[in-house]
Amino acid sequence: MSAVVVAVDGPAGTGKSSVSRGLARALNAHYLDTGAMYRLVTLSTLRAGVDLADAEAIAAAADVPLSVGNNPDIDRAYLGTEDVSAEIRGGEVTRAVSAVSAVPQVRARLVALQRELASGPDSVVVEGRDIGTVVLPDADVKIFLTASAETRARRRNDQNVAVGLADDYETVLADVLRRDHLDSTRAVSPLRPAEDAVIVDSSDMTEAEVVAHLLQLVEQRSGAVR
Ligand code: DC
Repeated sequence: MSAVVVAVDGPAGTGKSSVSRGLARALNAHYLDTGAMYRLVTLSTLRAGVDLADAEAIAAAADVPLSVGNNPDIDRAYLGTEDVSAEIRGGEVTRAVSAVSAVPQVRARLVALQRELASGPDSVVVEGRDIGTVVLPDADVKIFLTASAETRARRRNDQNVAVGLADDYETVLADVLRRDHLDSTRAVSPLRPAEDAVIVDSSDMTEAEVVAHLLQLVEQRSGAVR
């Protein structure tokens, strides 16, 4: 199959990460988790004790060496050589990441890095919020994965319960709505589908069904023959 560049965008809680990983596996493609990159710079900012209202200070604290995993180590993320894969998924980083990812200097740096990482000769699935609109406007296939806020909150709450965290659907729903609002109203790269994106609503689909559907879209849209 010829190399294909797939952008997968959408809000939190749509199953986007699992689905993007599954799609990358099925396509034998690389996978780039751009959310992990924003989480890494957020962790660095928190460790520096920076005021989250101070964009200049955030930009300075965020200027650190970072790397995100690739097959078969796709869940790993590093600040320098330190493996912080678990820490970047914690509540503290999750609460602060919208503020850090709204800083234009942070976005400019990470977008440049993302373009570089996606520019190889191989197929790649790049997952994020602004991949089809800003990072890779020429991607072969653009998917905007969505689901109702209630569905996303229910899934996130189920995940929390499964790992022993509190069962608190209302708080999770409020957090989903808050993050949606921040991500879609920020001045730089607000979350929205690219004009040529295919919008896929995963509310009533299983993960396997979504992957199968996306695979079909990629095959149709890229004209690729497997
Ligand atoms: O996908 P995630 O939950 O790991 O993303 C973490 C945060 O990073 C999310 O609140 C929005 C931000 N983000 C972004 O602004 N642009 C991207 N391309 C990816 C993530």
